Amino acid sequence: MDFHLTNEQQMLRKMYREFAENEVKPLAEEIDEEERFPMETVEKMAKLGMMGIYFPKEYGGAGGDVLSYAMCVEELAKVCGTTAVIVSAHTSLCCAPIFEHGTEEQKRKYLPDLLSGKKIGAFGLTEPNAGTDASGQQTLAVLEGDHYVLNGSKCFITNGNVADTFVVFAMTDKSKGNHGISAFIVEKDFPGFSTGKHEKKMGIRGSSTCDLIFEDCIVPKENLLGKEGKGFKIAMQTLDGGRIGIAAQALGLGEGAVNEAIKYTQERVQFGKRLSQFQNTQFQLADMHTRMQAAQYLVYAAAMKKQNHEDYSMDASMAKLFAAEAASDVTRRAVQLFGGYGYTREYPVERMMRDAKITEIYEGTSEVQRMVISSRLGVK
Ligand code: CAA
Repeated sequence: MDFHLTNEQQMLRKMYREFAENEVKPLAEEIDEEERFPMETVEKMAKLGMMGIYFPKEYGGAGGDVLSYAMCVEELAKVCGTTAVIVSAHTSLCCAPIFEHGTEEQKRKYLPDLLSGKKIGAFGLTEPNAGTDASGQQTLAVLEGDHYVLNGSKCFITNGNVADTFVVFAMTDKSKGNHGISAFIVEKDFPGFSTGKHEKKMGIRGSSTCDLIFEDCIVPKENLLGKEGKGFKIAMQTLDGGRIGIAAQALGLGEGAVNEAIKYTQERVQFGKRLSQFQNTQFQLADMHTRMQAAQYLVYAAAMKKQNHEDYSMDASMAKLFAAEAASDVTRRAVQLFGGYGYTREYPVERMMRDAKITEIYEGTSEVQRMVISSRLGVK
């Protein structure tokens, strides 16, 4: 795998890094503390093309590539896990399935506003009784003339309270199991659609996470995404891509914690020496950096395979599994190096540790990634 970045990718990386440092970092503590969605940052990212990085310009995208997208999420997560997941969920879980499975008419109708960041996207798969067991969908969609009527609810929906456009999954034929699930594009103003309670979370506290409620929700027939019964496959393919985004988020969180720990341990003096002069600190930092570097290779490899239209499902799972567990470990070690100060909100490492935990859970737990990887290995 050649990780040599093109001139364009290097320029984009520089732009994402500067944006993250100048516009995202100064707000990170405040939006976490206040559990406030950073809409002003989304508006700025939209102007820079960050809400539609790897989609063609003809649909309003920035015409970039999947690796640039992963690097964008990584750079954002180095300073703010919340901002990173806003971009990731919008891009991978809403724009991507519409681009990959939508009709030309659907793409022309929905993508320009989403990719330009005028509208925000979300993904409704998880239900109270269908989390890891995603095929156990209970939301029903019944075709009545020229529209479907949806009834049911979704939970833990990232961007839920702020999104305009949702890719939603529902059962159109219960007797067919996962082959009876279909995907729909739902607009927030469709009759019978509403959002429910906002979750109070351990980390990524500035991101919006809420329930979606469908009470005789009218969805025009032309908003069926893909064919009837193909929804589960669409969901699984979408999550393959989504896992690259979350892996990149985990990568950035771990790298951000390493950066903070390097800075702090060179300033803090105990026993007459800087912490960085102790061999324990040096070994910790060496291990932390090595883990994140290994994670970066996995994340970039998965992104490049997706870009090249190769089968990347297992690569995305390996990247997410490894990067998420590395991020949790590395952010925890960073807090340990900071000692008592690391446990306070005066420094960002405790927020990074809280933010990192979710990367082992959402878009498929680490256990789900192990299921995907072992099944790809043919282990039965
Ligand atoms: N691509 C295409 N098709 C796929 C696929 C993939 N990656 N993975 C599975 N499929 C297909 C299979 O080929 C199979 O097709 P057939 O029935 O035609 O043979 C079908 O899907 C069923 O496959 P499995 O038997 O493997 O499915 P399963 O029911 O055993 O589930 C699972 C497997 C890996 C556990 C899956 O359910 C899964 O990924 N669960 C986790 C769901 C998840 O990640 N949820 C997160 C929701 S989003 C979120 O986190 C919130 C947010 O907003 C950030």
